[in-house]
Amino acid sequence: MIKEKIDWANLGFGYIQSGKRYISNYKDGCWDSGCLSEDANVVINECACVLQYAQTCFEGLKAYRTKDGHIVTFRPDLNAERMIDTCKKLEMPIFSKERFLSALDEVVKANEDFVPPYGTGASLYIRPYMFGSGAVMGVKPAKEYQFRMFVSPVGPYFKSAAKALNLCVSDFDRAAPKGTGAVKAGLNYAMSLHALMVAHANGFDENVYLDAATRTKIEETGGANIIFISKDRTLVVPKSESILPSITRRSLVYVGDKYLDLKVEERDVSLNELDNFVECGLCGTAAVISPVGTITSHDRVYKFENSIGETSVLTSLYKTLTGIQSCEIEAPEGWIRRIV
Ligand code: PLP
Ligand code: COI
Repeated sequence: MIKEKIDWANLGFGYIQSGKRYISNYKDGCWDSGCLSEDANVVINECACVLQYAQTCFEGLKAYRTKDGHIVTFRPDLNAERMIDTCKKLEMPIFSKERFLSALDEVVKANEDFVPPYGTGASLYIRPYMFGSGAVMGVKPAKEYQFRMFVSPVGPYFKSAAKALNLCVSDFDRAAPKGTGAVKAGLNYAMSLHALMVAHANGFDENVYLDAATRTKIEETGGANIIFISKDRTLVVPKSESILPSITRRSLVYVGDKYLDLKVEERDVSLNELDNFVECGLCGTAAVISPVGTITSHDRVYKFENSIGETSVLTSLYKTLTGIQSCEIEAPEGWIRRIV
């Protein structure tokens, strides 16, 4: 895609091939020095561990253009750290935080033209990922790996950005208590695809997953954490060892407390208490904060009448978070990495 042809203000969340991507290969116990490439295609052996046994993981972060023309990223050190945690869980080699951050700088600079202009509402999505490229026949970790990082300009994750989402409680489970829910393994997303298609066929935008052990507590959705606001304006955030530690959610907990003076509770949230909340939203890099209107659990419909509107707590959280990300509001120390 030629960047002159991109309609920045009407972008959805899709893949647009950019100019360059970063690639590094792991062989004989170490990573090579890495380079940028114009080739968007991956060529690997038919028996690569990623193809047979799904040994792959990814991250997601965004670069933003500021009003005064700089390009910044938001807390990328936390993406690097989370990828290390994921790699440990999947028996993959670690790509160091330093290498991750310098690859990020390189790839964003090389694709500067693809960073959407300030004020369009769009941003540059950055997708670091790693997979077992070495061939394995028996079930075991690969000996060779590839780390890549590509970018794509994106707009809102959910099509109806102005409308509150309608979610349903899935009859499928996403993550076992001691499984892979807390890491960003590709397999977590593969197994959510069928559940997502079922939700869509039933007219819902996304699934809410319950804890697999008791099926009584709210965990998260397929691609975002979930947050609630109670009648007394408390920010309530589900806590569980099987949900992804969202960087957006961790940031909102801080913003709620330190910038907006909200009471914040991180705790178990049971399905039965949804009636106590007046606002609900999905939060994540892609979702940012997407307001939720209803959650349906079989014949019960929980409504969150206040999720949308200028006076909602979610709107205050959204404005403060996005203000920090675009450098219009002063960020806490270390949250912004300026690239250009
Ligand atoms: N939960 C899941 C399952 C996700 O895929 C994501 C996206 O990365 C999130 C939560 C949000 O995490 P973050 O805010 O770090 O993007
Ligand atoms: C992100 O928000 O970066 C994600 O990885 C979510 C993904 C489902 C698009």
